[in-house]
Order: sequence, then C-alpha cells, then structure tokens
Amino acid sequence: MLLDLTCLATLFIGGVLLLLIWWKVYTRNSFHGDITFIPGDWPLIGHIPIILDQEKFRALSDKWYKDFDGTFGYYLTTKKLVITSNVKVINDLLSNSRYLKKSWGYVFLEALIGKGLVTSDGELWKERRRLITPAFHFGILNGFIPCMERCVKELIQLFDEHAENGTTFNVLNMGTKLTMAVICETSMGQRLSLRGENGSDFKALYENATNLMVKRFFRPWLFNDFIYSLSKDGKLFLKQRNALRSWVKNIIEDRIEFHKNKGVTNDLKATRKIFIDVLLDSFERRDRYRRDS
Ligand SMILES: *[C@@H]1O[C@H](CO)[C@@H](O)[C@H](O)[C@H]1NC(C)=O
Ligand SMILES: *[C@@H]1O[C@H](CO)[C@@H](O)[C@H](O)[C@H]1NC(C)=O
Ligand SMILES: *[C@@H]1O[C@H](CO)[C@@H](O)[C@H](O)[C@H]1NC(C)=O
Repeated sequence: MLLDLTCLATLFIGGVLLLLIWWKVYTRNSFHGDITFIPGDWPLIGHIPIILDQEKFRALSDKWYKDFDGTFGYYLTTKKLVITSNVKVINDLLSNSRYLKKSWGYVFLEALIGKGLVTSDGELWKERRRLITPAFHFGILNGFIPCMERCVKELIQLFDEHAENGTTFNVLNMGTKLTMAVICETSMGQRLSLRGENGSDFKALYENATNLMVKRFFRPWLFNDFIYSLSKDGKLFLKQRNALRSWVKNIIEDRIEFHKNKGVTNDLKATRKIFIDVLLDSFERRDRYRRDS
C-alpha cells in the first residue's frame, strides 16, 4: 500500500517535471529574429492571467509597445503571438517559408465562415485563389467604384452630421460598417445602409458572432469544440452562425435562380457582375466541362 503511494507520487512528480521541461525547452525556444517577449508568463498558461483583464492588458500593451520599440510577443498558453508595427519585422515574418501555414487562431474563424480562401492554405488555397482570379479583373473592379463611392459619401454625410450635432462616435465601428456595406454589395449584391436601418440583423449577427469568437480566443478552456458547444457562449455562437449561414444560403439560391432566368429581376442584380456571379460562372464552366468530357 505504502509502496503504491510512493510509486504514484513519483509518477506524478515525474510527470509534472516532464511537462515543465517540455514547456521550458520546446515552447520557449528562440523565436524567429530577436523579438522580446513580455515578462509575467506562467508555466503552460502563458500570459492568460494578464490578458483576461482586457483593460489592464490594453494599458500595458501601450507601455510595452513603447518599451520594446514597437514589437513584442506574448504567450497564449504555449502559442506565441507577436504584435508589431515594424515593417522590417513584418517583412521578415511574411517572407519566411517557415510561416506559410495559417496560425491556429484561424480555427475559430473557420468555425464561423468555414474552410474558404481566408482560412485555408496549401493546395486548397491555391485552387480557391485561382477560382476567384476573374473577380479581380479590372473590368469587374471598375464596376464596383460606384458602390464604393456611394458608401463613402454616406460615411462622410454621417461624419458631417456628428460634427453638426457635436456628438462623439467610434471610428472603428464606422470603418467596419463601411467595409461590410461594400463587401456585402460587391460580393452578394445586398445593399446595406451605414445607418443600420436595414440589413441590421445581419450586421448585429456578424458583430455578435465575431465578438464571441474573440472572447473564445482568450479562454483556452473553451478551445475544445464539444465543450464550447455546451457553454452558454458556445450555444449562442452556434445559433448566430447558423442564422448567418442561412442568410448567405438564401442569397446564393436567389442568385442561382436569377442566373437561370437571366435578367428579369430588379436593377441592382441586373446591372453588374458581382463576386458571386464569378463563382457561379466558374461552377457552370466546370459543369459543362464535366458534361462534355
Ligand atoms: C443629429 O441630430 C439629428 C436631430 O436631433 C438626428 O436626427 C440625427 O440622427 C443626428 N445624427 C447623428 C449622426 O447622430
Ligand atoms: C437598404 O436601404 C437602401 C437605401 O437606404 C436601399 O437602396 C436598399 O435596397 C435596402 N436594402 C435592403 C436589403 O433592404
Ligand atoms: C447581439 O448582442 C446584443 C447584446 O449582447 C443583443 O442585445 C442582441 O440581441 C444580439 N443580436 C443578435 C442578432 O443576436
């Protein structure tokens, strides 16, 4: 009995020691270049205790940013994250073939938007990238200018109104809204207003879902999909994700219908080729190719 206990204790201590050595040697080995990692990390969990207090973390980030000349790293569990505004560091990292794979953080984005161009790498990425090349043709990009111009005009008008009313606003939010309006219209043909009168369901859903995604990023105990799906946040996230997906699915089905009976629906759809058309075209081509061969 006593022997058993000693045995167990030895195993336990041995296990902990091995874990610590692994943490020290394999997760803390030198990073590409000489990036300073901020002090205060814990074994295995890294800087999570500091990060959880977002306000403090933000304030400290400003300080580190100055102290370490615009570049510093921190640990999220055993993963390394680098924050930088130094072009040379960015250039070094982006041109290094060691870092071709997308970072693990993309798995949370993948949970929201699936395995697309943004979240894939390697062969899948190449295939997807080829597929959308026609969408970046000058002729098509030029067609998007009126939409961008209209959205920017709306933004400036909002700025003016705020200036007249003497009210403050969040610039980042406005930027997101502008981006979203332009992307929704040029990729899916859905016109959103920056003021959020229409399409606000979509905007709220998207914002809520991405907020939950960022929250999960800093909570390692929610990394596991199954555990996440049981948590309160996870349930909400899945609900919002499904709503977003059915929203997009409706648009795609609409557009396929429109392709079938060309040109009989409303003006916005008929006048321009949008992103989704390029994808549908290439699917049609592939279908035809399959039928012919
Ligand atoms: C500015 O004030 C007017 C009148 O109170 C209001 O209708 C409008 O929504 C306000 N605009 C903004 C951008 O807050
Ligand atoms: C949103 O509002 C704009 C005008 O502000 C309108 O042109 C557009 O059709 C509306 N979009 C939807 C999806 O209802
Ligand atoms: C988004 O979150 C806010 C507050 O967290 C909530 O009031 C709103 O109903 C949510 N919207 C959607 C579409 O889930």
